[in-house]
Amino acid sequence: MQITIEHLTKQFGNTTAVNDLSITLESGKLIALLGPSGCGKSTTLNMLSGILPVTSGRVLFDGKDVTALPPEKRGIGLVFQNYALYPHMTARQNICFPMEIKKIPKKQRLERAAELAELVHITPYLDRKPAELSGGQQQRVAIARALAKDPQVLLLDEPLSNLDAKLRVEMREEIRRIQRESKITTVFVTHDQEEASSIADQVVLLRDGIKQQEDTARGLYENPVNFFVADFLGTPPINKLHGKIAGGKIRLEGYPEPISFAPASALADDLPVVLAVRAEGIVPGAQSPAFTTKVLERYSLGKDELVRLAVGETQQMRGFVPAELDIQAGDMLPLGLKNRGVFLFHAETGERYI
Ligand SMILES: Nc1ncnc2c1ncn2[C@@H]1O[C@H](COP(=O)(O)OP(=O)(O)O)[C@@H](O)[C@H]1O
Ligand SMILES: [Mg+2]
Repeated sequence: MQITIEHLTKQFGNTTAVNDLSITLESGKLIALLGPSGCGKSTTLNMLSGILPVTSGRVLFDGKDVTALPPEKRGIGLVFQNYALYPHMTARQNICFPMEIKKIPKKQRLERAAELAELVHITPYLDRKPAELSGGQQQRVAIARALAKDPQVLLLDEPLSNLDAKLRVEMREEIRRIQRESKITTVFVTHDQEEASSIADQVVLLRDGIKQQEDTARGLYENPVNFFVADFLGTPPINKLHGKIAGGKIRLEGYPEPISFAPASALADDLPVVLAVRAEGIVPGAQSPAFTTKVLERYSLGKDELVRLAVGETQQMRGFVPAELDIQAGDMLPLGLKNRGVFLFHAETGERYI
């Protein structure tokens, strides 16, 4: 099922929760709706499901306008953060419930429940009640129950937020597997950029109800359209060095002399900019460095070594260095800048120059 969202807007009084959002979600894919808390992810999902009426705009399923259809007529399965299983029913009864509503004969219900239990790996627990299941198991049951309606679309709103960190990583891989096997068009809402990046075919990043960018996770990471996108994706977060253009160079705050950075040569004097550098965007000890830093700290992250560096008097950054590089706190470290992972933005508007 292909989902098309056209100029979707949702207004709550004076708050515009979703603002003129247009997206096409391809059939059979897993799409992440990503963004900080309050950016309109749940509101968008709830308009897709029909739980919330739209203020304006349209939702199309395979080209058919479903904007006015109630949730039960849209062929969707829903999973929320709090699993919302029926506490007095066993896992099997929970999974069977939507099929009972659809008046599917008992034998077929039980067969389908057994199939779904296999798919989500909960077969041994079918006779347990929710209170006797772990968080991850409950969430698997919730997914099986959502799939029991044979939905054309699966909508998941922060389904892993209540799980601990290790289980969250396991379950996101499980959701990916279940989605691949069932091939259902899935919309996955999360505020966690790593979670979105690790499972989605396509990521839609929202801010204040407005779509910022829509691409693969790699596309967002490597080619952000603005500062917000660059800053939202990546661990550690992208380094932000503030400065101003001066004579075609960048005068970084607190750094003694202007630094050469070719793309700056076309920009007007006094323009406030942010030189944004990913931790892997540096060339430590370059022959012709862009600037020189002072090592403050060096940490080992297992396979990588990370250093915290002072850039002049007032700014700092973090960067990856090869494990064999012989530097320690107090040393001066000249840095070159790579083409990849280095961007220049307007400091206020976030507009990207390079
Ligand atoms: N029922 C509602 N009434 C009024 N404002 C709401 C309602 N639901 C959401 N909002 C507001 O709309 C914005 C988007 O909310 P939401 O879609 O829940 O964000 P997210 O899921 O990305 O955290 C927020 O500013 C929120 O306060
Ligand atoms: Mg939400």
